[in-house]
Amino acid sequence: MSIISEKNFDIRKLTSFKTGGIIKEVFYPESIEECENIFKNHPSIKVFGNLSNTLVSSDGYDGAIVLTAKMTDISINGNTVTAGAGVKGPKLAQTVCESGLSGLEFMIGFPGSVGGEVYMNASANSQAVSDTFVSALCYSKTKGIIRLSKDEMRFGYRSSVCQSEDLIVLQAEFELTPKSKDEIKAQMDSNLQFRKNHQPSLALPNCGSIFKNPQGNSAGRLLDSIGAKTLSCGGVRIWENHANFIVNDNCGTSLDILSLMFDLYSKVKEKYDIELEPEIIFLGGKNEKENELCKILYKK
Ligand code: EPU
Repeated sequence: MSIISEKNFDIRKLTSFKTGGIIKEVFYPESIEECENIFKNHPSIKVFGNLSNTLVSSDGYDGAIVLTAKMTDISINGNTVTAGAGVKGPKLAQTVCESGLSGLEFMIGFPGSVGGEVYMNASANSQAVSDTFVSALCYSKTKGIIRLSKDEMRFGYRSSVCQSEDLIVLQAEFELTPKSKDEIKAQMDSNLQFRKNHQPSLALPNCGSIFKNPQGNSAGRLLDSIGAKTLSCGGVRIWENHANFIVNDNCGTSLDILSLMFDLYSKVKEKYDIELEPEIIFLGGKNEKENELCKILYKK
C-alpha cells in the first residue's frame, strides 16, 4: 500500500501562527512501519505533529516533511496508556479521564500532539510529560527504531535527548494513577480556565510561549519589564496580557514574527545580559533575512 503524500502543499491553513507557504512534499504515515520507510528514503526529513509550536516561513520550505496527524492509535492496558505521536493532547487527556486515569490533565488545553509534547517535555499547571512517562518508540538515523526508557530520555525543562540526538518520537507510553472521573474533570476544567485567563485563544493566531524561561527567571516578566507589550512588527504584535506571546491578528508574515523576536531578544540582552532561547521551532531556509535572524536567535 502506498504512503499518503501531497506535493506542493500550502501549509498555511494548518499552522497555529497562520503563516507558511508551499512545502515541497508532505507525507502522512499511518503506522510506525510507514514512518520507517519514509525515514530510510528521506534521511533528512523533518517531522511535525500539529504544527502548534512551529513557525513556518511564509516563503515555504524546499524539502519534504512528515505530519504525524494520522498516527492516532490509543490503547489502555491497566494503568498504562500507549499513544501514537499524532494523538492530540486534549484527545488523550479526555480518553484517559474516561478510564478514570489521572496524570495527563495538563494536556487538556494543549493544541499540540504527543510526539511534540514528549520531544520538548511539555508542561503546564504543575504537571509535565516526564512525570508519568515510561518509554517511547523513537527513530534514530543510525539505529532505526529504538525504545527509550525515562532515564534514557534525559528530560529537563522543555528538553529531552530527542533534541540533542535528533531522535523522532513515534509512540509513547505513560503510567497513570487511578482517580475518580469527577476529580479528573474538575482538574481539567480548572486548567482550561487558567489557560483562558492567562493565554490567548487560538482565535488569535499564536504559538504559545515564544521563549523558554531562563533558569530561575521568567521570560514573561523580563519581557514585560522592557516594555514588550507595546511592541509590534508588520502584522504581528505582543499580546497585551502576557509579554511572552506574539499574536498574528493582522496577516503578519514569518519575517514579522522573527523580527519581533529579535527585537525582544536584543532588548533583554542589552538590559539584563540574558540571551533568551526560543521555545518555538522554525521551519524555513529560503529567505536570507530570516536565515540571518535565525542564526542569532537559534545559534545555528
Ligand atoms: N509575568 C509578568 N508579565 C507578563 C507575563 C508574566 O510579569 O507579561 C510574570 C507573572 O506575573 C508570573 C511570571 O511572570 O509571576 C510567570 O508567568 P506565568 O505564570 O504566565 O507563567 P509562564 O512561565 O509565562 C509557563 C509556561 C506555559 C504554561 C504556564 C502555566 C514557559 C515558557 N511557559 O508560563 O507554557 O502554560 O507556565 O503552567 O515555560 C507554552 O509552553 O507554550 C506555555 C504556554
